[in-house]
Amino acid sequence: MTAISGADEHMYGGGGYKGSRSPVAEAYRVLRTNLQFAAVDRELKVVLVTSPSPDEGKSTVAQFLAQTISQTGKRVMILDTDLISPTLHKRFGLPNQKGLSSLIMGETDLATAAHPKAYPNLSVITSGPIPPNSSELLGSARMKHLMDRMREEYDMIIVDSPPVLVVTDAVVTSSLADGVILVIHAGRTHGGDVRRAQEALEGARANLLGAVLNRVHLRGSEYKYANSYTVSDVDSARAVETPKTDS
Ligand SMILES: Nc1ncnc2c1ncn2[C@@H]1O[C@H](COP(=O)(O)OP(=O)(O)OP(=O)(O)O)[C@@H](O)[C@H]1O
Ligand SMILES: [Mg+2]
Repeated sequence: MTAISGADEHMYGGGGYKGSRSPVAEAYRVLRTNLQFAAVDRELKVVLVTSPSPDEGKSTVAQFLAQTISQTGKRVMILDTDLISPTLHKRFGLPNQKGLSSLIMGETDLATAAHPKAYPNLSVITSGPIPPNSSELLGSARMKHLMDRMREEYDMIIVDSPPVLVVTDAVVTSSLADGVILVIHAGRTHGGDVRRAQEALEGARANLLGAVLNRVHLRGSEYKYANSYTVSDVDSARAVETPKTDS
């Protein structure tokens, strides 16, 4: 397994990226590298980040992964498909009057909605207004068309999503993704929930890439071992451990 420490202040703060040598940043680079290897035989352009239940760290992992990939100079998009309890606009300090839901409804265009100048190499599409029928929107032909357009314009698209076991939305959206990362909250997510989430995703023929074990308690030299690459106990999925930070 590899290790990431998820605390925002370790990597970002004061408006800039600053923690490039922190274990957190290093672990996200390992995750980035693992994704590159996973892409050896098939295109891995759209990666959905989800988890079984609420509050396990999906949006945190999606944000830092997108930012880490954008540092290589790739054109990266991060997309908030959590149309029920969206948070990306808050994380990136962006307005949310227009976003994905408005794009699907044809009320704005991609260039405007993507906030292209907010961050170097990183575009952010926030959720937009919360619709009453999120899974219908995410499963629509318009959503598919939109994703096809984004595939043309970006090198990598990281998709934040709601929890698998709460609504069908993440499973619906997984059919638009080339691969899925499952975030697991260390010591809190139940094994049964992991299996149920896996089954739901696999039932939709999602390509489960691996797991991110988030909020693992690790200190000092333990990082050294945690950063080595192994196979997780979540089936044979690749895993990245995300240590809990002291904050
Ligand atoms: N590794 C970590 N260390 C410390 N805090 C963390 C870590 N990962 C996530 N958090 C915190 O836990 C809270 C939940 O994280 P986050 O919003 O990423 O979860 P989520 O799975 O996207 O939740 P939701 O299901 O509501 O979308 C946030 O306050 C976040 O800052
Ligand atoms: Mg979230």
